[in-house]
Parts: sequence; structure tokens; C-alpha cells
Amino acid sequence: MTSLMKTQGTTEDDITAEVLRRFDATNDPRLRRIMQSLVRHVHAFVKDVELTEAEWMAAIKFLSETGHMCDDKRQEFILLSDTLGVSMVVDLINHRAPEGATESTVFGPFHRDGAPEMPAGGNIAPRDAKGIPTIVSGHVLTLDGKPIAGARLDVWQADSSGLYDSQYAHTDELHLRGQFRTDKDGAFLVRTIRPVYYAIPTDGPVGRMLTATNRHPWRPAHIHFVISAPGYQPVTTHIFDDADPYLGSDAVFAVKDSLMCTFVRHESRDDEAGRFGLEPPFCTARFDFVLRPSAR
Ligand code: BEZ
Ligand code: FE
Repeated sequence: MTSLMKTQGTTEDDITAEVLRRFDATNDPRLRRIMQSLVRHVHAFVKDVELTEAEWMAAIKFLSETGHMCDDKRQEFILLSDTLGVSMVVDLINHRAPEGATESTVFGPFHRDGAPEMPAGGNIAPRDAKGIPTIVSGHVLTLDGKPIAGARLDVWQADSSGLYDSQYAHTDELHLRGQFRTDKDGAFLVRTIRPVYYAIPTDGPVGRMLTATNRHPWRPAHIHFVISAPGYQPVTTHIFDDADPYLGSDAVFAVKDSLMCTFVRHESRDDEAGRFGLEPPFCTARFDFVLRPSAR
């Protein structure tokens, strides 16, 4: 006989206690902890707002639509997690970087496998004529400042219209993506365009949630990186344009002070124009990434 046999006078708290009890026998202690905590918090939330049946049904519909907008090109559940700040809380709990190591931030839904391997200085934006040509350079270093040779940089970003290649329905072509390796001095050089601020996709349930709650969809201009090297912990991160107007209100809460980068605009045929073979206007940006050793 379970403890929940009375049918009259059953309270909300009786139900919560009984649901928690049903998970008591879960063999995996981590799963037991997660399920019981989830039940406690979801029940507390429903009781706190005194959820109506219409609101409960609206939530079921919202989550169903979110699921229906997930495939290999679109992940509305990740977008929901990102816009609720859950992704960043998970990131902060799981990647507490030691002093000096490059901090991580959200992966986002737009990474694609198979970006082309490129030599130093390779152009990831050859078909973006509107963007401002930009050279991003720097080093991949150890915590004590030594160069890491042969580190891999997987780089991706939105184009000058604020869209990722996968958001264009008419093509599957990869664009604004590349994989680079550091040289013997730990140096890398990427040619791209200056990133622009852009709106996260708003044509689904997450967009409706933002509109209904008077929130904007903008992300400050950034370039995505995954940096990895044998013997070191990989880091998934961005560099952000430190002049961007949306740094203080990123729709997905992913900005960290340590990831700011200055994009210097060059208006004349200066030394760097000569070195990189660029006509002004163009930009240069420098950023060093620091990896920590793999956990043993
Ligand atoms: C992105 O930066 O690509 C991104 C991150 C989170 C949500 C949407 C887009
Ligand atoms: Fe992005």
C-alpha cells in the first residue's frame, strides 16, 4: 500500500511528497538526486504561480512546438536554454577557469562539423563582399605563457547580414567557417570580416516568448572559437567586439569581460595594409587564448 491512498483531503504537498517517495528506489544516486530535485522545483514553481489549466496547456503546446523546431540545422531547445540563461549557468558551473585561462561561453546552435582546414591567413569569408575585411591574430599559450604549437582553432561566425550559412535555405555550402593550426610559436592568423551584432532566430516559440516578455533578440558582435591541443582542456568560447552596443544585454547572457577584443579600424595604406595585402578600410584584432592542462 502506498502512502497516497486517501482520495479526500489530499493536498498539493501530499502529491509532492508521494512523487518524491516514488523516486526513492532509483539505483543511480545521481539520477535520484536529479529527479527528486526536479520534482521539488517544478512543483514549487506550479504552486508559487498557482498555474491555471489553460497556462499548463499553453506550456505543453509551447514545449511541443519547440521540439518540432529541432533538426540537424535548427535546435530550438538549445535556443530556449540559452535565452533562459540555463546554458550559461551550466557553463559557469562546469568550466571554472583558473586565473589566466581563457574563459568559455555558450556553444550556440550554429556550429557545423567539417569546416575546411586552412593555412595561416586563410580567408573564411571569401564570398562576403559587404563585410569589412578583418585580420584576427594572436597566440595559443599555456598558463605560464609558453606557446602551444599545433593547437587547432575551429572558427565560425555570422556574415555581414548577421546570418550563419546554415540559415540560408537555398544552399548547404559552408561559409565563414575554418579550421586553423598554430605555428611553432603558437601563432595563428585568420582572415575574415568584422563581425556584426545579429538577432537570434525569432521565427519560433522562443521568438514569441521574447516578444511577449518585451525582450530584444540581439547578440553582440562576436566570433566563435573552439581551441584544442593534445594534453590541454579544449575551450569553447567567443571573442566579442568591445565597441558593440549590445554587450550589456546579450539575449543569451554569454558576455564575459575577459573575452573583450578591440577591432582596430585602419583607414589608410599603413604597414599592416602592406603586410596583409589589404586595401583600407580594414580591421585588425588581436587575442591570445590560454589553455590549461588536461585533468589527469
Ligand atoms: C550564437 O552565437 O551563434 C548563438 C548562441 C546562442 C543562441 C543563438 C545563437
Ligand atoms: Fe554566434
